[in-house]
Amino acid sequence: MSYNPFSLQGKKVLVTGAGSGIGRAIAVAASKMGASIVMVDISKEGLEQTGALLDHPEYQHQQYVVDLTDSEAIGALVESLDGLDGLVNNAGIPNTRPLQMIREEDFDRVVGLNTKAPVLLTNLLYKKKKLNKGASIVFTSSLAGLYTFTPANGLYSLSKSALTSYAKSCAVEFAARGIRSNCVNPSMVNTHLKDSLSFSEEEYQKDIEKYPLRRYAEPEEVANAVIFLLSDAASYITGHTLLVDGGRSLK
Ligand SMILES: NC(=O)c1ccc[n+]([C@@H]2O[C@H](COP(=O)([O-])OP(=O)(O)OC[C@H]3O[C@@H](n4cnc5c(N)ncnc54)[C@H](O)[C@@H]3O)[C@@H](O)[C@H]2O)c1
Repeated sequence: MSYNPFSLQGKKVLVTGAGSGIGRAIAVAASKMGASIVMVDISKEGLEQTGALLDHPEYQHQQYVVDLTDSEAIGALVESLDGLDGLVNNAGIPNTRPLQMIREEDFDRVVGLNTKAPVLLTNLLYKKKKLNKGASIVFTSSLAGLYTFTPANGLYSLSKSALTSYAKSCAVEFAARGIRSNCVNPSMVNTHLKDSLSFSEEEYQKDIEKYPLRRYAEPEEVANAVIFLLSDAASYITGHTLLVDGGRSLK
């Protein structure tokens, strides 16, 4: 095979939120790069749709229907896994309530999936030695975890900024086993999540003008950044926060 440091040949990669959007694009791209994929999502239908898109069906990619806000379900998932070379903590949900409208149940739901679930899953996989030596962990955070551009995004921002800092702690503590940990921080991406924000077409157009590249990202463009971090091409990169934002943070 020709020289390709971005190859994931022979690696096993777990992707959460693989049933849609960015997670689906990561699973598809990683399979094209030669990885076998462990797909995790709450949506069985979403997983089946993603499964049908994966390259190398002979690798017998796995699907797990799991509600990641259920810590017992995370425990059961971890027990059934082994030998992971990559872990992509990607599942997440938005929240657009102004601060004074945030209820305790919103906090539990958003932080439960966006922050607590990746922390529990990552810690348990490490503790139970399910991550191979030299494995790569990637967290899908958000530009909102670093900047406060818009109102009514405070709870989501909080959940994602915690993830950005946790990725760095993993980088420090898990380096003893050669495990790397990094974050990707996308701005707006054309997925179901973005569409659910229910902005008007005019509001989206006004927002897009703030991007030097004058468009939102496609999920595949975030996936490519994740593939890089999963691959041996990023073997000396750990604790990094990689903005995938079309230059939005510059304006
Ligand atoms: N789309 C954007 O504009 C954008 C920007 C920055 C960051 N992100 C982040 O990217 C990640 C992926 O988002 P997306 O845009 O692909 O959204 P999406 O809604 O298309 O996909 C999210 C996936 O998570 C799954 N999920 C939801 N609740 C779950 C649960 N309790 N347990 C297991 N799986 C669950 C959904 O079924 C879905 O398949 C999220 O963490 C999001 O915060 C998205």
